[in-house]
Amino acid sequence: SLSKLRMRIYEANREAARFFHATLLSQRGQSGLNYLRGRALSDRTIRHFGLGFADDDWNSLCNHLKNKGFSEYEIYSANLAFKRKNGNGIYDRFVNRVMFPIIDLRGNVIAFGGRIMTDEKPKYLNTSDTPVFKKSENLFSLNNAKSSGTRTLILCEGYMDVIALNQAGFTNAVATLGTALTNEQAVLMKRYADEVIICYDADGAGQKATARAIDILRNAGLPIKILTVPSGKDPDEFIRSKGDNGPAAFKLLIEKCGNDIEYRLMKLKENYNLNTTDGKVAFLNEAVKIVATIESPIERDVFASKLCAELEIDKNAFLEQISKVKRRDR
Ligand code: UTP
Ligand code: MN
Ligand code: MN
Ligand code: MN
Ligand code: MN
Repeated sequence: SLSKLRMRIYEANREAARFFHATLLSQRGQSGLNYLRGRALSDRTIRHFGLGFADDDWNSLCNHLKNKGFSEYEIYSANLAFKRKNGNGIYDRFVNRVMFPIIDLRGNVIAFGGRIMTDEKPKYLNTSDTPVFKKSENLFSLNNAKSSGTRTLILCEGYMDVIALNQAGFTNAVATLGTALTNEQAVLMKRYADEVIICYDADGAGQKATARAIDILRNAGLPIKILTVPSGKDPDEFIRSKGDNGPAAFKLLIEKCGNDIEYRLMKLKENYNLNTTDGKVAFLNEAVKIVATIESPIERDVFASKLCAELEIDKNAFLEQISKVKRRDR
C-alpha cells in the first residue's frame, strides 16, 4: 500500500543519510570532507546538518540498502537510484557528490541535494518528487529554523547559504530547494514567522527571484524585508569573507535592511537620472504607483514625506498624484 511504501522510503532515506555520513568520515570520503572544510564548515556543523558523501562507486548505496533489506522497487521509489536503460536492475543516483539531507518538521529525511565538487553540471542534483517529497512544499532547514527562538525567517537561495548562516549563529535561515518560491512555501513560512527577510544572491538571477518572492510573500500576508548582500556575493560568501564582512557585518545588514517598498523604490531609482528634470518627473510618476500600493495611510505618508524631501518637491502635489492613481485603480 502507499502508506507502507512511504514508510519504507523514509527508512531508506534515513539509512542512505547514515551511509553517506559514514562515508564522508571514512577514507572513501576524504575528498568530500576536504571540500566541506575548504568551504569553512566546522566538524560540528557537518555533524549538525548530517552532511555526507556519495562515493564514486555506481553501486555502493544500492548494495548497502539491499543488504539492509530494501527492495529495488523501494530504493527506486525513494529516487535514490536510476533504472538501467538496457536490462534489469538499478544503480546509484548520487555519485561523487557532497550530500545535503533535507529533513522535514517531524525529523524525517525526505530528500537529498548533492553537490558536484568540480565545474560539471548540474552543480546540484536533487531528489525529484517522490511519495514523501514535494519540493514545492518544503524548505531546507525549516526544522532548525522553527526552534530558533525568533519569528523572523531569513529566506536564502542555497543550501550553503543556510548552513554558513547557521554556523554563524543565524539559525532562522531557510532555503527553497532549487526552484522559485511557491505559494505553498509562503503559507508554510507563515506558520512559523511574522516576518521574512529575503536574502537572495546579489546577482541578476537573485534579484529577479527577489521581485517574484516579494509578490508571493505579500499575497500570503507576510511582512517582508529585503537584505541585499553587497558586492555581488551570496550570503555564504559574505559571511565567510574577512575584513569588513563576516557575521557581525551580517547582523548590521539585518538591522538596517528595509521593507519591500524601500527595496522597490531603490531599484526603481537605479533606472533614472535624478539630476535632470525629466528624469526626476519620470521617476516620481513611477514612484507614486509604488507608494499608492501601501495600505496603511501612516506608512504611505512616511514614504511620501521621505521622497518629497529627498527630491525637493511639494508634498501636496505628490499626495494629489497618489489620490489620482488610487482613484484610477478602483
Ligand atoms: P546557486 O547557483 O546560487 O548555488 O544556486 P549556491 O547555493 O551558491 O551553491 P555553491 O555555493 O556554489 O555551492 C542556489 C540554489 O539553487 C539550487 C540549489 O538549491 C542551490 O543551493 N540549485 C542550483 C540546484 O538545485 N541545481 C543547480 O544545478 C544549481
Ligand atoms: Mn555509490
Ligand atoms: Mn544564485
Ligand atoms: Mn554560493
Ligand atoms: Mn549562490
